[in-house]
Amino acid sequence: MVRCRLNLPGSIEHLIHGRPEGAPAQADQMEEFEQRLNETADRVTVALDALLPRAEGPEANLNSAMRYAALGPGKRLRPFLVIECGRLVNADERGLLRAASALECIHAYSLIHDDLPCMDDDDMRRGRPTVHKAYDEATAVLAGDGLQSIAYEILTHPDTHGRGSVRARLVERLARASGPSGMVGGQMIDIIGESETLDISVVTRMHRMKTGALISYAAETGCILTEVEEHVRRALEGFAHDLGLAYQITDDILDATGNEAETGKSVGKDAGQGKATFVTILGLEGAKERAGHLAAQAKEHLDLFGKRADVLKSTVDFVLDRRS
Ligand code: FPP
Ligand code: MG
Repeated sequence: MVRCRLNLPGSIEHLIHGRPEGAPAQADQMEEFEQRLNETADRVTVALDALLPRAEGPEANLNSAMRYAALGPGKRLRPFLVIECGRLVNADERGLLRAASALECIHAYSLIHDDLPCMDDDDMRRGRPTVHKAYDEATAVLAGDGLQSIAYEILTHPDTHGRGSVRARLVERLARASGPSGMVGGQMIDIIGESETLDISVVTRMHRMKTGALISYAAETGCILTEVEEHVRRALEGFAHDLGLAYQITDDILDATGNEAETGKSVGKDAGQGKATFVTILGLEGAKERAGHLAAQAKEHLDLFGKRADVLKSTVDFVLDRRS
């Protein structure tokens, strides 16, 4: 299980005695995936701990709120995609870790603002009180703003890449992915969806912008940090495009079928607000079918990389099967 590897007697048994004969190779792949996801989550948390300002001085409350949000128990899926896609193209590990940390700062900022009373008005996130509940509303707004600034500070530091043009490209692509043409624009469509009925093409566009753009950025980072052939870049682009949409459809499914204890946040809100989602438009089975189709397509894009992409293929399964 993700982030609980020391509590898995089954997997320890397997490490000691080997997997029983006939056990599916896919289980081995999934185990490797979980181990790598946990390792990446730990590395990113350590990196963020060093990169974020300490809770000191008269502004200590702000820094404490930023740390609460960014160091909290997230899956670190976006950083994982940065690092694993980057490894496929042999990008520099230090640059990847810094870019992964910057992206997690943007993600953490978006969650803080998404939970605010003026947006989704949520009390729980990642199984804990949201930032405006644990602190207060003004501090939550500032903590989101601060994390956004820190993301760009991390990217523009020469430790991320020796060439200024590469750092500028990282900044430009992240600004686009998280701004009005990406995540922020998608959030606007989401809010409009509370008072207007959106059709499937607008819902798809919303997801592509709100969630897909950051996932695409994650897959692209390695290709910015190092030179890659066009067909390789395209394969990763296609993978991220399909994964991003499958991810958000799964989010819609979890909102309709999950429970708060597992997801760590409130559920059933979309239907409660009369929002159009893949589940309300396609029905539960239709949404599952669409997510499954996209997942298969996402994996096909990775065939180019052979066995080296197995861990990313397992990521696709994880995204579909996740309960949080
Ligand atoms: C859960 O991520 C989050 C999403 C699926 C993204 C939703 C999009 C927004 C909140 C954008 C909001 C934008 C603004 C500007 C307010 P996850 O399942 O990876 O969560 P985790 O990091 O806790 O694991
Ligand atoms: Mg929202």
